[in-house]
Amino acid sequence: MRTNRRSWLAIAALLALSGVSSCKKGKSDEIVIGHYASMSGNTAHYGQDTDKAIRMAVDEVNAGGGVLGKQVKVVTLDTRGDSAEAANAVTRLIDVEKSVALLGEVASSLSLSGGRVAQRRKVPMVTPSSTNPKVTEVGDHIFRVCFLDPFQGKVMAKFARENLKLERVAILKDVKNDYSIGLAEAFKGSFSALGGKIVMEQSYGQGDTDFSAQVTAIKNSDAQAIFVPGYYAEVGAIARTAQRLDVKLPLLGGDGWDAPDLFKIGGDALNGSYYSNHFAPDAATPKAKKFVADFKAKHGAEPTGLGALGYDAAAVLLDAIKRAGKTDGDALRDALAATKDFEGVTGSITIDSARNPEKSAVVLEIKDGRAKYAATVNP
Ligand code: PHE
Repeated sequence: MRTNRRSWLAIAALLALSGVSSCKKGKSDEIVIGHYASMSGNTAHYGQDTDKAIRMAVDEVNAGGGVLGKQVKVVTLDTRGDSAEAANAVTRLIDVEKSVALLGEVASSLSLSGGRVAQRRKVPMVTPSSTNPKVTEVGDHIFRVCFLDPFQGKVMAKFARENLKLERVAILKDVKNDYSIGLAEAFKGSFSALGGKIVMEQSYGQGDTDFSAQVTAIKNSDAQAIFVPGYYAEVGAIARTAQRLDVKLPLLGGDGWDAPDLFKIGGDALNGSYYSNHFAPDAATPKAKKFVADFKAKHGAEPTGLGALGYDAAAVLLDAIKRAGKTDGDALRDALAATKDFEGVTGSITIDSARNPEKSAVVLEIKDGRAKYAATVNP
């Protein structure tokens, strides 16, 4: 008797480990959506803000009865901002958590590695905020709800040339980051096409903390501004370095700057700088205003563009599940591909044949340690 009981326990333990007896998971009365995100690490703000907003969109739909008669459950796994972890998280979200679709990542490099797994397994994925063109090129199951970097680069190049009347700009890019490399290229192409000159290119790697050599080199050039297409932790430190070395050039950047921590790290060194983004809470449509108010009431702070995009990515996915009428990968894929005139908080979303939307961008100006709406640029 004893031996039997023990071997039964051993078998049960094995089954539980392999996920076979997971009665909690993939319950037939709920639909599981997997979110992979940097919930910790030095881009933690990206994942956290996105996750809060995704959960708001899902809670709202659940309160109204869910989709296809079922409640929707979000399972979030932390990538810690690491590409290998992103691939692991996606594998787990599919195999163990039985996700019918995926949301994530923010960082393009991580969406590329997670997206390859999703595509191989034919589980549809919607990245809220990865802007590098290569992300949706991974395959026909990968979608996004944000604009792309060739557009974003052009927005800032135009702003630099036409609004700021700049002729000579230096670039300081993160060579460990697909987003940064791509956006630097896009800016360079557009700025040159508009008659401007890139007088110097310097580089760093994500996680670096000392930028004095690069900033000194730029100081000794005749640049009138520095384009820094990076993530907030390094951008904040670069701004501080420039201030310490008495470099009085404005910094220009992209959506990667979008985090309250940018101001904690960079402080007043960022005043007079500009960046492009997906969303400005102070220039919102009625639908977006309601989202900003709800987010603020729930989380005690305004959402960033990441929150707005996370909310839209979840809403677009939930809408596609409703229209598909089922949750199998190909049906969901087709429904996502058919998304048309979806009214999101970041604007209207129509998915094109390359699984991207066409969206406008905003330019923000940093004044008194805060980002303020400066302009909207349409495609
Ligand atoms: N667009 C960035 C990327 O592709 C991610 C990002 C989006 C960061 C929006 C901040 C805000 O890597």
